[in-house]
Amino acid sequence: MTISPSIQYHFSLRHHNTFGVDAQAYAYVEVASSAVLASIRSDNILSALPRLVLGGGSNIVLTQDFPGLVMHMGIKGIEIVAENDEFTFVRAAAGENWHQLVLWTLDHALGGLENLSLIPGSVGAAPIQNIGAYGVEARDYIHGLRVYDFDSGEIIMLNNADCRFGYRDSIFKQDLRSRCIVLDVTFALPKRWQANVGYADVARKLTESGVVAPCARDVSEAVIAIRTAKLPDPAVIGNAGSFFKNPIVTTRQRDALLDRFPGLVSYRQSAFEYKLAAGWLIDQCGWKGRKLGAAGVYEKQALVLVNRGDATGADIVQLADAIQKDVLERFGVQLEPEPVYV
Ligand code: EPU
Repeated sequence: MTISPSIQYHFSLRHHNTFGVDAQAYAYVEVASSAVLASIRSDNILSALPRLVLGGGSNIVLTQDFPGLVMHMGIKGIEIVAENDEFTFVRAAAGENWHQLVLWTLDHALGGLENLSLIPGSVGAAPIQNIGAYGVEARDYIHGLRVYDFDSGEIIMLNNADCRFGYRDSIFKQDLRSRCIVLDVTFALPKRWQANVGYADVARKLTESGVVAPCARDVSEAVIAIRTAKLPDPAVIGNAGSFFKNPIVTTRQRDALLDRFPGLVSYRQSAFEYKLAAGWLIDQCGWKGRKLGAAGVYEKQALVLVNRGDATGADIVQLADAIQKDVLERFGVQLEPEPVYV
């Protein structure tokens, strides 16, 4: 089927990125089905433009107007597609809101995604950076996904291993960047569900609420309470969640830092590696609550950069650069941004 996509030109992206940066797209299209992608591919002019896929816009910094075609993923639908003795398989279209998917699974008495409650963004974005929180990552439950390949014009199925998931990373941030668009994601949710409450904040919250044997909904509610208290709501204060990844350093580097900074917060990854809490490093450099131009560091969590008014992408990058420089000077650790700079 060929359809002619309805393109809007010089389109403001202010409401399409959670930082609320007012950059423009040269061209913009709503992708309501994979047929729209096929027609873009077969159009000589549209297919020659640089492409940017937007889901919830919760993981990008728009540093300038985008001189190409922004494709906003709008494909909808959530359904149970199969089940066996061990799993229920739920397929969700890329344009669904992530948190709405989590609530849908809970409404259907399916556990697994509850620790990932309230993460901003869309289902299609979840595998791109392998979203994670409170001891769970999207990759733990992703069975596979379907992507549209702009090179071949085909729809390709990828399994979990094909996606090469890492900490806030996947093949879609690397080799397949801007080549493939996620159409839908299938999750394998375990029938023998067990609560994952290993993360201290979650365990504490459940105890405070008097919950002894938590169900998936209880865990979700605890996570929602923690996130609401600690993280700014992008609908109120523009932000993109954690702005930097927690850096991974060698055990030797971590031990040397711990000697100099006894308060250092670190998590063992293996015998050779530790993850450092970037929020702690930034906090120690005195950045928490500070502003630089119209961009600032959130007062309750130093890992979150916020738009304090009319911040441009350049303001946000300038602040991020200043923080990276200070952390590098003080701790010898290079912070890496989580969102993509466009
Ligand atoms: N800390 C400080 N000062 C701060 C912030 C944090 O000292 O201003 C310390 C905390 O006291 C704590 C440690 O740093 O000891 C870690 O903080 P927290 O538990 O809040 O988690 P995080 O490492 O900052 C990560 C994820 C979040 C996720 C939470 C909970 C990354 C980059 N961030 O944050 O994910 O919600 O754990 O699992 O991995 C996101 O990626 O957008 C995100 C919000």
